[in-house]
Amino acid sequence: MRFLIHGGKKLNGTLTVSGAKNAALPFMAAALLTDKPVTLRRVPAIEDVARMGEIIRGLGAPVTSARDHEYIISAKKFTTTALDATLSPKIRASVLLLGPLLIREGSVTLPYPGGCAIGSRPIDLFINGYRKLGATVEEKESAIQFSAKKLRGARFTFPIVSVTGTEALMLTATRVPGETVLENAAMEPEIIALAEFLNSCGAKITGAGTPMIRIMGVSQLRGGSATMIPDRIEAGAFLALAAATRSDLTIKNCDPSHLAIPLLMLERMGVKVETSKDSLRIRPAERIESKDLTTHEYPGFPTDLQAPFVVLMTQAHGKALIHETIFNGRLFFTEKLVRMGAKITLADPHRAIIEGPTKLRGTTLESPDIRAGLALVIAGLVARGKTTIENIYQIDRGYEKIEERLRAVGADIKRVP
Ligand code: EPU
Repeated sequence: MRFLIHGGKKLNGTLTVSGAKNAALPFMAAALLTDKPVTLRRVPAIEDVARMGEIIRGLGAPVTSARDHEYIISAKKFTTTALDATLSPKIRASVLLLGPLLIREGSVTLPYPGGCAIGSRPIDLFINGYRKLGATVEEKESAIQFSAKKLRGARFTFPIVSVTGTEALMLTATRVPGETVLENAAMEPEIIALAEFLNSCGAKITGAGTPMIRIMGVSQLRGGSATMIPDRIEAGAFLALAAATRSDLTIKNCDPSHLAIPLLMLERMGVKVETSKDSLRIRPAERIESKDLTTHEYPGFPTDLQAPFVVLMTQAHGKALIHETIFNGRLFFTEKLVRMGAKITLADPHRAIIEGPTKLRGTTLESPDIRAGLALVIAGLVARGKTTIENIYQIDRGYEKIEERLRAVGADIKRVP
């Protein structure tokens, strides 16, 4: 499948933000900590969630969906402790299933995790963290074997801040006897939401949202229910889209408090955004100024919004230095924008210099990962002429029916085989 886009049009109307992918995936894993049913609401209908559901079903736990955006996971028992060797490497968040299996079954076979162009990231933090909690880890050729006779609470300091690493150890420690302290923990809103949900099921977690999280292990968790927080990355990408296409868009069902730094960046660039408790309205700016941008762990500027803001920066006046500090390969997609006419120089894999404004022209591009994929859609909507985006599975992994939603605000985009 591919997207065909005819760009150069201003958009107008309202975009509604989905539940957060990066909340839904850890919540699905957390549901396996209890043998009682867990109901998850406002789960986005995206490919990564579907794959996670398949992996969980493969373990013998039913994942059912009686209505849109709602899943019930009921992990009474498991029929295997080996994660699917084909599916699991496709989605990095599957590493989160390791903790619940280790707690309840005592062992797990984990294929090496994957993802996308930035997906094959290391998992040393998980290995060291689980060892600290008392697991034994054997690295084999195609999979890693984790086993645990007796787990016990421990103090673990993350050498670098890791979102999934924090989530993995936090959710596991809820059922590990004794106290676990996680230092240099990630502080993303999804981590706070996960801790609140686990606490509502009987866990004893304090400090989520700060660099030090304390977990007092309990022997059982109850079932429960939770509604996913709004996807701040989707909302932020819609902001970049509106600004870059000089559109008048309202973004509703979002949480602007999770977007403080991207909103500040827009303000500094001269883009006006009106903020209410759960919506944003952005109006066309006459002139947009370039500003340097450095990605940083939350509450800093999210790496997941770097690509859409790079596209916006091609429409801004002046020079901007983009410094990607979290991932190694995340600026390589800029080569595709250069093919569309952008003036971007890669100083090294972590730094790009953008000179703007430039007129972009349509061409054929391939989506490298979820976030750069949507950025290319934005670039296609900015560009004159026709843009074809291939490999859109990568976009469907993270954004629900994106072309239908964009069409509703006037975008000329369609999905073709
Ligand atoms: N890292 C290690 N060793 C590890 C784990 C991570 O060196 O064992 C490194 C990574 O290579 C990276 C850094 O630590 O350089 C930070 O990675 P982190 O572990 O925080 O990333 P993640 O948890 O795998 C989550 C999101 C990503 C988002 C990053 C950073 C989920 C499911 N994924 O990934 O989202 O970019 O945090 O905020 O929550 C996306 O949604 O498209 C996406 C990639």
